[in-house]
Amino acid sequence: MRNGPVSTPPRVLPPNDPRQYDDLAGEWWRPDGAFAMLHWLARSRAALVPPATRPDALLVDLGCGAGLLAPHLAGKGYRHVGVDLTRSALAQAAAHGVTVVNGDATAVPLVDGCADVVAAGELLEHVPDWRRVVAEACRLLRPGGLLVLDTLNDTALARLVAVRIGERLPTVPRGIHDPRLFVDARELVAECARHGVHLRIRGIRPSLRGTLAWLVRRARGRPSGTVDGRQPRMKPTRSVAVLYQGHGVRHG
Ligand SMILES: C[S@@+](CC[C@H](N)C(=O)[O-])C[C@H]1O[C@@H](n2cnc3c(N)ncnc32)[C@H](O)[C@@H]1O
Repeated sequence: MRNGPVSTPPRVLPPNDPRQYDDLAGEWWRPDGAFAMLHWLARSRAALVPPATRPDALLVDLGCGAGLLAPHLAGKGYRHVGVDLTRSALAQAAAHGVTVVNGDATAVPLVDGCADVVAAGELLEHVPDWRRVVAEACRLLRPGGLLVLDTLNDTALARLVAVRIGERLPTVPRGIHDPRLFVDARELVAECARHGVHLRIRGIRPSLRGTLAWLVRRARGRPSGTVDGRQPRMKPTRSVAVLYQGHGVRHG
């Protein structure tokens, strides 16, 4: 009989169960961890955010997780407020300078028109009613404010690439997605328009060469060091059929 500590097997939760974020809490800020691709996406999303044009400008980060956007906003002049359901993630976001709100992105306890920028990175595909998140995002934006987001399209190709293949790679946790929640790009553009935001979208993907090099380094046990160091870049693609990014200004 073996002596010594018995390790507990990870619990198996249903797809998209939010408790997965608690189980993976130690992964958020590891550049080579299970949330690695979220770091690549955060840099790409932040590149769409211009420097603030007025003092006290507010950026509301819906579904902020552990605040991975924070280092990429440094020096842009925003107060970064993050809203998320997961307390273990918010504790880490707060430690990275985010003012945190434990709440639901479908009913945000902030006043209309308070935000110069609303970000919703990799959130919509995790929410059963993404239209309510869009309505909240647009409600929070001041006229002239900017919405930036990225999400997965509701296509067979997205289900193949992001779930069947992606969740077998070390860049995406297995079971984190429920493909039934993926967001049709045309419907998203139409919904944003209904709320006064003309959303422009483009497909994105990680650089193939960068990802290959990252996978090799990781397999050889040579970590990437910092969240920015030698991380794969996101590249624009012609097709929005898998992962896509959107940005648009609220009119009126
Ligand atoms: C894939 S993570 C993305 C985190 C972060 N935006 C990033 O890109 O690093 C999805 C996040 O959305 C949060 N979330 C899911 N449903 C939510 C909801 N209805 N309201 C607020 N946060 C939610 C989860 O807790 C998790 O932190």
